[in-house]
Amino acid sequence: MDAITLLTADHNRVRGLFSRFKAAEETDKTPTMLQVSEKIVAELTVHTTIEEEIFYPATSDASEEVHKLINEGLEEHAVAKRLIEELLDVEAGGEEWVAKMTVIIESVEHHAEEEETDMFPAIRKNIAKDKLEALAVKMDARKGQLGAPTSKDTVDLTKTQLLEKAREQDIPGRSNMDVEELALTVDPR
Ligand SMILES: [Fe+2]
Ligand SMILES: [Fe+2]
Repeated sequence: MDAITLLTADHNRVRGLFSRFKAAEETDKTPTMLQVSEKIVAELTVHTTIEEEIFYPATSDASEEVHKLINEGLEEHAVAKRLIEELLDVEAGGEEWVAKMTVIIESVEHHAEEEETDMFPAIRKNIAKDKLEALAVKMDARKGQLGAPTSKDTVDLTKTQLLEKAREQDIPGRSNMDVEELALTVDPR
């Protein structure tokens, strides 16, 4: 496990939640939308926290390009946080709430894509593997402190169990993942 595989696993778990939210919206299942949206907000809060507290500061000096991409990333996090705050001010499940959720999903999809396409490869080029591994350990521990599942919570699951959960959680790319990637990506709860 290194920092980039951990963060990418977070992205794919959230993408699964996004697709479950969209499916619930299309079939007018408001209780599911509310339940999934709570998970989305919790995931995004933990993920932006570990990036901002640990990953971004530790990598932002990697190169000028990385520095610039991280500054852009921080602005995108700020936008997402503002939208999440606004979400709590409108009637849950109402029209405005759905519109805000849709914009949150679109902007986070864009942000995660940019991290994976531009930021992470630039960081991998400039930061040593052992440093990225040490950052993963730190971020994993911080997730635990924040009340989120950690890598320890899935170590006992078999590949079949992991794949079953990945299917239930609509995780994209699951059939091409190895056991380690699956274990980092699925929500054990
Ligand atoms: Fe981010
Ligand atoms: Fe991210």
